[in-house]
Amino acid sequence: MTRLLLLGGTAEGRALAARLHPHVDIVSSLAGRVPDPALPVGPVRIGGFGGVDGLRRWLVDEHIDAVIDATHPFAATMTAHAAQVCSELKKPYVVLARPPWDPCDAIVVTSDTQAAEAVARQQFQRIFLTTGRSGVAAFAGSPAWFLIRAVTAPDDTVLPRRHQLVLSRGPYHYDDEVQLLRQHHIDALVTKNSGGDMTRAKLNAAAALDVPVVMVARPPLPAGVTTVSTVAQAAAWVDGLS
Ligand SMILES: NC(=O)c1ccc[n+]([C@@H]2O[C@H](COP(=O)([O-])OP(=O)(O)OC[C@H]3O[C@@H](n4cnc5c(N)ncnc54)[C@H](OP(=O)(O)O)[C@@H]3O)[C@@H](O)[C@H]2O)c1
Repeated sequence: MTRLLLLGGTAEGRALAARLHPHVDIVSSLAGRVPDPALPVGPVRIGGFGGVDGLRRWLVDEHIDAVIDATHPFAATMTAHAAQVCSELKKPYVVLARPPWDPCDAIVVTSDTQAAEAVARQQFQRIFLTTGRSGVAAFAGSPAWFLIRAVTAPDDTVLPRRHQLVLSRGPYHYDDEVQLLRQHHIDALVTKNSGGDMTRAKLNAAAALDVPVVMVARPPLPAGVTTVSTVAQAAAWVDGLS
């Protein structure tokens, strides 16, 4: 029987685990960043592998035959490591990458630093910042006011001087997002192009209220990797292995 590693930490990873378990021998893997994470069904391991060398060792020790990478589109380091190790070990590897959002009229940038530069250039004053815990540092020196929404709290040292922190995780709903933008007099939304339905309501709310959007584009995938964009396609890829 084929034994698979499913790199997760996303709703798609959990949905795929639910679809494959128990018919397929899979181990899901989470980074362990979030306290009390939503767990996939079936066997789960938690924590980093220890870089490329640790991942290589783990795949060999655990007799893994193939890897499905359902990590978040911005989890570029994990994806780079998995692509490299699977290529070296000649293990089948697929990336499940949910389709990106259409940026429409958004100011598209390629890093958090560029997003902060765009905010300064446009002189936005009250920003809804949703780029996640690790995206906050780029805004630390900004004089603007930020409503920062993240799953886990950023380090105190990287918070901008004027801010309010909201710790929560999606899914988020349109009416609530509209109310949030109105209540805080938000004049710009800063987001990553995460894609998916769980967090897209903020874009619809911003469009409805004519709030400009600064969107960080996804990091590129490693060259030559096989990709699918839905859980069903990933399950079909797994079927094709046997
Ligand atoms: N980045 C986001 O915006 C975002 C949003 C929602 C969910 N997530 C989820 O949160 C996790 C961490 O994301 P990240 O952006 O911090 O990743 P990252 O920057 O690509 O990875 C940093 C390190 O974290 C460890 N790691 C990441 N994903 C892992 C996994 N699924 N299983 C085991 N180790 C993992 C690896 O450590 P070692 O080098 O020690 O192996 C990796 O080198 C991922 O599972 C991702 O799917 C991320």
